[in-house]
Amino acid sequence: MFSARITGYGKYLPERIMTNFDLEKIVDTSDEWITTRTGIKERRIAAENETSTELGTYAAQKALDNANLKPDDIDLVICATNSPAQLFPATAGLIHKGLKLPVSAGGFDLQSGCTGFVYGLEIASDMIKFGRMKNIIVVGVDTCSKITNWEDRDSCVLFGDGAGAIVLSKSNEENCGVLSSCLGLDSNYSDDITLAGGIASKSNVIKQTIKDSAIEGWHFIKLNGQRVFKFAVRYFQETVNRVLNESKISIKDIDFIIPHQANIRIIEAAAKVLKYPIEKFFINIQKYGNTSAATIPISLEECYTQGLIKKGDLILTVAFGAGASYGANLIKV
Ligand code: ACO
Repeated sequence: MFSARITGYGKYLPERIMTNFDLEKIVDTSDEWITTRTGIKERRIAAENETSTELGTYAAQKALDNANLKPDDIDLVICATNSPAQLFPATAGLIHKGLKLPVSAGGFDLQSGCTGFVYGLEIASDMIKFGRMKNIIVVGVDTCSKITNWEDRDSCVLFGDGAGAIVLSKSNEENCGVLSSCLGLDSNYSDDITLAGGIASKSNVIKQTIKDSAIEGWHFIKLNGQRVFKFAVRYFQETVNRVLNESKISIKDIDFIIPHQANIRIIEAAAKVLKYPIEKFFINIQKYGNTSAATIPISLEECYTQGLIKKGDLILTVAFGAGASYGANLIKV
């Protein structure tokens, strides 16, 4: 069997910064509340003409260049997103077009809340390990600002827009790259993070006015924050323990954890229950908020470019999100 290593990385964050002070002018909130309850100071907001397609394409192009590969070298593009600009063609197809990938390269979208990128990395890794493909681009992108109810202070302070991408490549070196993953979902929490309106949902929100009381709010993220918080802390620990037990690796051997950035208090609680030093968790929530499926690849890019991880390091990505899904990738850099 081959190894599947990360050979390129890229990210794209929209230019516009929205601070907590900006939010104070929109909803009944305060910088003090957002900072102490979540750890977020500011987030990026996509421009009107920027969608997940543009953000994802910019990040993927950077990853391709960083890997020193040409479009013809790519076999597949997987795009994890919860906020596609349209249902079809898939965002992956439009990124494929933007990068001028060859017709021999496939592409598909994957939707699993904020865990989507972790799922995508595992799927790509399996395709490569069994020798079916050589180079796969995995993108995580979300523009949640476009599906956020800006009058709902419970949710609008949490999210930000962004994109990250990696290139995963076949390697003959043994025991490196994505070593194993844990992918799970507890559907008892399926009602706790929702966007109920779909193109083909029971009540077609596209055809009806959004003022129809039966469907009002269906096109926005709806969040049961407290239940999601508890879910996140519980499954953070469970997914880490599962992937470590299966790989017979102790948490003491892990050099760095790259967690989903939903709330600094979730990361602190996870550090405590795992008895793992908080200094070894990568944290950028203060700058970007929760960028959903983009969080893990943006963080991976920042770990590489800031020189925080080096060849041979053992790292763990851990994410959780709508579904409620959860997952982790164990990676030897
Ligand atoms: N500003 C000021 N006050 C607020 C705000 C706000 N933005 N939001 C809520 N409050 C108030 C509430 O009304 C409440 O007031 P009350 O005590 O008078 O009733 C008080 O603050 C406390 O509210 P809680 O909901 O108990 O606050 P909590 O400490 O639980 O924090 C939060 C809320 C930040 C949402 C937290 O529960 C959380 O982070 N949950 C997890 C979210 C998450 O992980 N999402 C990721 C998945 S998203 C995806 O997959 C697409």
